[in-house]
Amino acid sequence: MDFFVVPDAASTGAIAAGIVAAVIRSKPEAVLGLATGGSPLPVYAALAAHRLDMSGIRGFALDEYVGLPAGHPQSYAEVIRREVTERLHLDPAKVSVPAGAAEDPERAAAAYDAAIAQAGGIDVQILGIGHNGHVAFNEPGSALDSRTRVEALTERTRQANARYFASPDDVPDRCITQGLGTILEARQLLLVVSGADKADILHTALSGPVTTDCPASILQLHPHVTVVADEAAAALLGARAVNGTTPVAVRSRAVGV
Ligand code: PGA
Repeated sequence: MDFFVVPDAASTGAIAAGIVAAVIRSKPEAVLGLATGGSPLPVYAALAAHRLDMSGIRGFALDEYVGLPAGHPQSYAEVIRREVTERLHLDPAKVSVPAGAAEDPERAAAAYDAAIAQAGGIDVQILGIGHNGHVAFNEPGSALDSRTRVEALTERTRQANARYFASPDDVPDRCITQGLGTILEARQLLLVVSGADKADILHTALSGPVTTDCPASILQLHPHVTVVADEAAAALLGARAVNGTTPVAVRSRAVGV
């Protein structure tokens, strides 16, 4: 596990974007796993500044709400379009989001894993972490080998996401999420985390037991994980606390990643 600690959220974007840019440079037809939420936004902003040729890049979003009409501004299809596809000049035809507005979301979920496999699998999966340890919308209790599926959202997650909606009642209560087993199949996992409110759960995920109680603990099972955290989020992780890995404090952008 590679671990970078940086001063602030903007710096997490610079470091993580450097990692994604390296993947794209070495593989112009790379398949990116795209996360929504606040944590990855600095990554997309910093990646745009690299001005890479993105014409061959494919993308798969991690998750989507079930029950929002197509085109709803808070659907992840729209968030990905605004924050990722347009910003990075990706070909919209090459960017997939689970079909949460489908008549048969269960079937759409099953088709999603097949589409990822058909694209050759995900080269680098960008991830955030929820306060309850969820990754994508895999809430606590999700099986470690779960596949893309329809799930219920916990109240905690609905409350956390209420900030994006006019009223907390408007937050859907179901989703399609890539499974933990699906996520573990990506060739590289890139967790981006910032803020003191994430310090507890980051510590639990990386230093506690691997358990369905904390879905993000699956990071300990993957052979190629990079964590980029700001100092506030990394506050509880002492030296050598992470799988025997010493976190690297990075204070400048000129880091060799
Ligand atoms: P956040 O969400 O980046 O908006 O904090 C993370 C998540 O819920 O996975």
